[in-house]
Amino acid sequence: MYGAAVSGLAVTMPSCSKKAQPIEAVSPQSLSFTELPHALDEHFAVAEGYSAQVLIAWGDPIFADAPKFDPLNQSEESQLKQFGYNNDYIGFIPFAADSSESEHGLLAVNHEATSISLMFPDSPAADELSLQRTLVDIAAHGLSVVEVKKTDNAWTVVKDSKFNRRITPNTEMRMTGAAAGDSRLITEDSKDGVFTLGTYGNCAGGVTPWGTVLTAEENVDGFFGGDISNSKEAKSFKRFIAYLNGKSWWKHFSRWNLQKNPGEILHMGWIVEIDPFDPDSVPMKRTSLGRFKHEGCSVYINHDKHVVGYCGDDARFEYIYKFVSKKKYQEGNRAANMRLLEEGDLFVARFLDDGSLQWLPLIYGEGPLTSENGFTSQADLMIDARLAADLLGATPMDRPEDVEVNPANGRVYAMLTNNSARSGEQIDSANPRANNGDGQIIEFWPEDGNHRADTFKWDLFLLAGDPARTETQYHSGISENGWLSCPDNCAFDKLGNLWIATDGAPGRGVADGVWATEVSGSAKGLTKRFVRTPKGAELCGPFFTPDSANFFCAVQHPAAGSTYKAPSTRWPDFSEDLPPRPAVVVITKDGGGRIGS
Ligand code: FEO
Ligand code: CA
Ligand code: CA
Ligand code: CA
Repeated sequence: MYGAAVSGLAVTMPSCSKKAQPIEAVSPQSLSFTELPHALDEHFAVAEGYSAQVLIAWGDPIFADAPKFDPLNQSEESQLKQFGYNNDYIGFIPFAADSSESEHGLLAVNHEATSISLMFPDSPAADELSLQRTLVDIAAHGLSVVEVKKTDNAWTVVKDSKFNRRITPNTEMRMTGAAAGDSRLITEDSKDGVFTLGTYGNCAGGVTPWGTVLTAEENVDGFFGGDISNSKEAKSFKRFIAYLNGKSWWKHFSRWNLQKNPGEILHMGWIVEIDPFDPDSVPMKRTSLGRFKHEGCSVYINHDKHVVGYCGDDARFEYIYKFVSKKKYQEGNRAANMRLLEEGDLFVARFLDDGSLQWLPLIYGEGPLTSENGFTSQADLMIDARLAADLLGATPMDRPEDVEVNPANGRVYAMLTNNSARSGEQIDSANPRANNGDGQIIEFWPEDGNHRADTFKWDLFLLAGDPARTETQYHSGISENGWLSCPDNCAFDKLGNLWIATDGAPGRGVADGVWATEVSGSAKGLTKRFVRTPKGAELCGPFFTPDSANFFCAVQHPAAGSTYKAPSTRWPDFSEDLPPRPAVVVITKDGGGRIGS
């Protein structure tokens, strides 16, 4: 599969090895915007003919009684009433969940992490924060839910909305599904393994067809510390934990000390479902979707009304998963639909060289998933989904980020962001490059349209990177600005075009941003640059309103790698009194109309 030219696509090789194929003139049918050139500077930029408005930034009040942002004197109390740090996922939920309302709704935004050196004036070390600052840091994580509306072509946050909410690492939640109540989940704070506190490390997510928000717990190990050398959970920790002691939380609170509370980290690494329309609702952790470093979750209603959720585990050599609900979606019965992710089967993907994909079930007692291999229940399988998937022979991928269904064609697109650790001996047809610094996008689909099928087809959609320096696969007609590196998040407009957000392009000398391409026909794989982020920032959470006339995106960690006193950009305020601030931007076409047209 790798190396073969797909219709409309060409594999280009670096000039040092093989000449690029001749360029054919192709004008895209539905993406006629004027491409933005590559650059890397202090500013946010969007293609000509479009306007970008900063909608909400770290520290902006989201309640009528919230204090004004004061970066020199942040407190836990103020941060709890303000927009959190490092916005990643964005979901726009119209007020009527099944409507096409595109100018009034709720925005749910993840606050994945904090950039401590840019957050506090003296740029302290992240693992040495005082208790007071640790409380500010904790309060800057989680999610924000805000009501937003468009009036006279400008979007605003409704500050006194009853829907506005901060969800934090201390918000009361419940474990549901296969692992709920398991004895391994009993901790100092959770006497029953069902009660749980908070969410953090929230990367991407999803909006369900019934109008709830899914948030994905990703790099949660980074919040813990303590000596785990003699832990009873040693096997589980070895497979899950990549790094400890990066934060100050565990020094001030025993909850995050794994020596004292080994079960606490088992409460993390799940998909959490939140009802944004009820600010008092208790978020639910959906353990039947497995525990790993969840990037996001894309939910699709199958033709037989079972719902399917696709998830990626974002780490090197990790896997892609599919959840299938036990119960069926019921049109108009939101209360019942809100429990669909509680029960069902989890599968993990094996990509074969013949272009087929097998979904391998994680079912206790089946195949190798037995007590001989250390599993005593379905709860064990869900808690240690990676260990179970290893035994099943799943395909280790190049860091699966967003895995999303394109509603226009029913195909699933997986952003594989990069994997510099893959050796020449470890390449396979779905992960075809050693020392992969640029990533690839694969697509997979059930041949008969049935997403519950055990076997799908798959294909390589593109191989990212600068064609001048690495093997790539795009449409042969891409411009010098059309190449991208490190695909992370994605979105589909109402025509089914794929919009790709990147995290890592600066490693190739250009700003991260957004590129768009059609997914079939003569302009398939003809990626065009639409957005550039300011220095240090990745671009996250792209999300269209239902009419595709508004495009929300999140600028995460602007000025990363620099300090409060000498930031590499002061975006978006460009004021000497303010540090750079992660923010949500909304893009519209001047004069109105579909984004990309
Ligand atoms: Fe938070 Fe997978 O990026
Ligand atoms: Ca990434
Ligand atoms: Ca991501
Ligand atoms: Ca990212």
